[in-house]
Amino acid sequence: MKVPENADFQTNSQANVGRKRQSEIYVGGLSGQTLSVPVDFCALEARAKEVMSPEAFAYVAGGAGMETTMRENRRAFDKWRIVPRMLRDVSERDTSIELFGKKLPTPFLTAPVGVLEMAHDDADLAVARACRAEEIPMIFSNQASHSMEDCAAEMGRAERWFQLYWSASNDLVESLVARAENAGCSAIVVTLDTTLLGWRTRDLDLAYLPFLRGKGIAQYTSDPVFRALLKQKSNDQEIAPERTINLNTIRVLLELAERYPDKFLKNLTSGEPLAAVRKFIGIYSRPSLTWDDLSFLRERTHLPILLKGILHPDDARLAVDKGMDGIVVSNHGGRQVDGAIGALDALPEVVDAIANQIPVLFDSGVRTGADAFKALALGARAVCIGRPYVYGLAAAGQQGVQDVLHNFKADFDLTMGLAGYRSIAEIDRVALRKST
Ligand code: GLV
Repeated sequence: MKVPENADFQTNSQANVGRKRQSEIYVGGLSGQTLSVPVDFCALEARAKEVMSPEAFAYVAGGAGMETTMRENRRAFDKWRIVPRMLRDVSERDTSIELFGKKLPTPFLTAPVGVLEMAHDDADLAVARACRAEEIPMIFSNQASHSMEDCAAEMGRAERWFQLYWSASNDLVESLVARAENAGCSAIVVTLDTTLLGWRTRDLDLAYLPFLRGKGIAQYTSDPVFRALLKQKSNDQEIAPERTINLNTIRVLLELAERYPDKFLKNLTSGEPLAAVRKFIGIYSRPSLTWDDLSFLRERTHLPILLKGILHPDDARLAVDKGMDGIVVSNHGGRQVDGAIGALDALPEVVDAIANQIPVLFDSGVRTGADAFKALALGARAVCIGRPYVYGLAAAGQQGVQDVLHNFKADFDLTMGLAGYRSIAEIDRVALRKST
């Protein structure tokens, strides 16, 4: 399913999105209508918490260790203040950007988030539909609950990218990337910061890892190379510790069989779903990965490659040296290294090191239009939105995601105009002051 060259979104479609959204909401209120989800992030998170299982909420909301990195992400935003400028005719605002040769209506993408089935049954499919409707590119997660082909089928020609976890199997890496190309993805985002899973205290306290229950492994179970690997003899068993068999384990096995692509009864007898989980645990990542490995990927795809998880300016320079096409400054939403630098604190130095050679994108801690404005002012070319849309998904499915994304665009458009800026290109560091 190749996407034609001219698959751009309508780049003028977001004109005045802020005012239009306000009127829609206020006029809707006259007939008693409200949005499917709260507008305020904290209220949205609280709504999601009400409807999600404790395990699902912990997985999405949680971070590593004492979650100081998550707090630092927010503190980093709070340190910068916008200094609005007056009388600059902001009646027409253009939020479009150009990225890798394509015009995009807004500088936003959805960040790849795994295991969305924990938020809602429609999971990635609902996000794909919402992204298409809101004209925001979706980055398909390597840990998705639905295959990239199924998501692409929901998106028509809308822009999508693929996020890759570099597997211990290069054959699997090659297969995933080839599938992404065929599914019309126009960039590969390699996540570098999760070669080992962070020490996630909330999940550990609940003794709950979704992947062990066959959740979030749809890109694997739909992959021909992965399925072939399942048939090979291996020592994967050694990776999973001995389990006690009781009613809980039986329930988990039944759930696994239900979730696996083949027929339920066949799954129960073949034992393949459990084998798939074990195989996944054995090969999902490669902690031995080094900068030299990147040439393997560079030689295998014509798509732009972005490295996600860059926080140090020297790593940013190395990315350029290795022929990468972009980077994403990110600390994985505070989920990996507790005590890490706030992502926004890392941004200016990384941007300076890159010196415009390749685009720098940003995620981690982004909650509002003002956050996006600050990241763009500090040099990000585009910003990825993560937890907010997942909470929207949990609270109200596709409509919830759409409302969150639409509100985000409206909030940003108004912030930009009220700060005195008419286009993304005009926004630079002069727009901000460090608060004392
Ligand atoms: C995986 O990407 C995670 O953050 O759980």
